[in-house]
Amino acid sequence: MSLLGFVRALPKVELHVHLVGSASVDTVLALARRHPEAGVPTDRDELSRFYEFRDFDHFLKVYWAVQSMLRDRHDIHTLVVGLAAELARQNVRHAEVTVTPYNHLLDGMAGDELLTGLADGRAQAEAEHGVTFAWCFDIPGEKGIRAGRETLAFALTERPEDLISFGLGGPEAGIGRAQFEPFFTAAREAGLRSVPHAGETTGPATIWSAIRDLGAERVGHGTSCTEDPALLDYLAEQRIALEVCPTSNIRTRQVESIGAHPIRRMLDHGLLVTLNTDDPPMFGATLEGEYLAVADTFGLSPADIGRLAGNAVTASFLPAERKTGLLGEIDAVTAAA
Ligand code: ADE
Ligand code: ZN
Repeated sequence: MSLLGFVRALPKVELHVHLVGSASVDTVLALARRHPEAGVPTDRDELSRFYEFRDFDHFLKVYWAVQSMLRDRHDIHTLVVGLAAELARQNVRHAEVTVTPYNHLLDGMAGDELLTGLADGRAQAEAEHGVTFAWCFDIPGEKGIRAGRETLAFALTERPEDLISFGLGGPEAGIGRAQFEPFFTAAREAGLRSVPHAGETTGPATIWSAIRDLGAERVGHGTSCTEDPALLDYLAEQRIALEVCPTSNIRTRQVESIGAHPIRRMLDHGLLVTLNTDDPPMFGATLEGEYLAVADTFGLSPADIGRLAGNAVTASFLPAERKTGLLGEIDAVTAAA
């Protein structure tokens, strides 16, 4: 079996993908034609140049321009079903998808429109593509305490049944994790799981804060953990999962290449590493592409690759019986390879 055949045959789980960032190129082009004021190119080649990021802040500006074109339930539904179709093509069975309600509400979308688009899209995703979704509602950190308060209120008041976790995204520099502690504490008390971004664009102190102040059960990116041996030990001992997105880190210029990516040291240290795509069409990434690139670059065996797929199942918030089923399938596919 080819490496691609093996990676595709593995049932996979995606734990770190933003709904806005999952918009396909065709969807973004169609939205851009409807909303010329957003400044997003309507031509495929121009859009591809628009997606060349100078640095992380430039990436976020582009991301926000795309986000601003989403207006109603139909737009949200299109994104959810489009993501499901793409995941099904790659044999991805389940995804925990980050949605940022505060930003959509600021852009003028009614809360009901967002929730209806998510719910209808999720039902169709499962019925037509066999892909299940759970949502992470995240705070856009750059908008501060107010965004924290409103995101929490929206999550707990509306509480869609498929909402599983609470996150924190956006830039990290100058935006301390600790200020969001009250919102994470309340979200966790209400049963939501804690999955903040940390250590993507700043150092290990941010990851420590995400763990100690926000009760992180998984860390979004967490790549700077390799700068702190005590943190590496702690992450390994506590089995705190890292949602690693290698191509994202390269395209936002945090890392030079896959070969230079901290994932090598994270794996060597026995961390619970999972592979993810973050904002796949914006980065030209696919989940199977991430598996292939890491396997190729670091010479991983089928058992190593199967372990990565298993880590994502283990670190997911799926019910135990679904995890057992997926882990059994991964073992069978790996044994046959
Ligand atoms: N929002 C979308 N992608 C993001 C990323 N990689 N980091 C932080 N916030 C984001
Ligand atoms: Zn992210």
